[in-house]
Amino acid sequence: MLGRRGDGYHDLQSIMQTITLHDTLVIEPAPERGWRFFCSEPALQNHDNLVCRAARALQEYSGQDMPGAAISLYKAIPAEAGLAGGSSDAAAALKGLNLFWDLNLSFPELLKIGAALGSDIPFCLHGGTALVEGRGEKVTALPSLPGCWVVLFIPPGLGCSTAEVYGALKKEWFGRPSLDPLIEAVQSGDGDMLDCWFERGDTNTLEYPVLNAHWSLEQLKARLRSSSLAPALSGSGPTLFILTKEYGLARSAATALTREGYPVYLCRTTSGRKE
Ligand code: C5P
Repeated sequence: MLGRRGDGYHDLQSIMQTITLHDTLVIEPAPERGWRFFCSEPALQNHDNLVCRAARALQEYSGQDMPGAAISLYKAIPAEAGLAGGSSDAAAALKGLNLFWDLNLSFPELLKIGAALGSDIPFCLHGGTALVEGRGEKVTALPSLPGCWVVLFIPPGLGCSTAEVYGALKKEWFGRPSLDPLIEAVQSGDGDMLDCWFERGDTNTLEYPVLNAHWSLEQLKARLRSSSLAPALSGSGPTLFILTKEYGLARSAATALTREGYPVYLCRTTSGRKE
């Protein structure tokens, strides 16, 4: 995180990575014109859902009367957990409806529409491993992380509103930590350098306000670090993740955390869009 901008947002410098954990978006023909939306989580079935906002934005952008579409979203990514689940749903809706409605919008057009809907959506359209800058609209692909395992676990009862977490950032935290060692590790594909990055413990600017506000999370992180695990905060939290090339380590961490009662997801890193 580099600093606060005049428009209230922040200038990012962030490495983002897609993983195998995913929701499923199904688009089917419907008899009536326009579109309707179903979500497997009733609380998310409303017209503010980013999928609906993406459908509306496409309709407005293309100015056409669309053939009927029934859009169903089956959730697997926990909501409001700092995992960009809603943004990935919106990215899928933009790509899927562009095909379904035969709009023929170019990838840069989808990026522009996505960026207006949410800061993480351009990255979700790209996928893979990328350096994300600006408000989130500048996405530079990096070499794919070599088949890493990711253990996600969610400390319960900690609501981390993204806007509040960003709002609690202090000036002295901007530019910390420097991402240079991480960028070098990803670019060189050096697994040991990557391990070193996570072992240092200080990996995400948003961790400073989140750990300040949630002492229990700081304690949990310290306890796991003392047993040789290197958890890091995902986005604005509260999800923590452990990234490793070793399946044995990922599996034993996932088993131990499940025994402790945390919701745990054992995933792999995925590669992004092919040019
Ligand atoms: O763009 P999006 O709606 O996903 O952002 C959610 C919130 O995250 C914004 O309201 C803002 O408070 C914060 N944010 C930010 N700077 C960014 C991205 C998000 O301050 N680059």
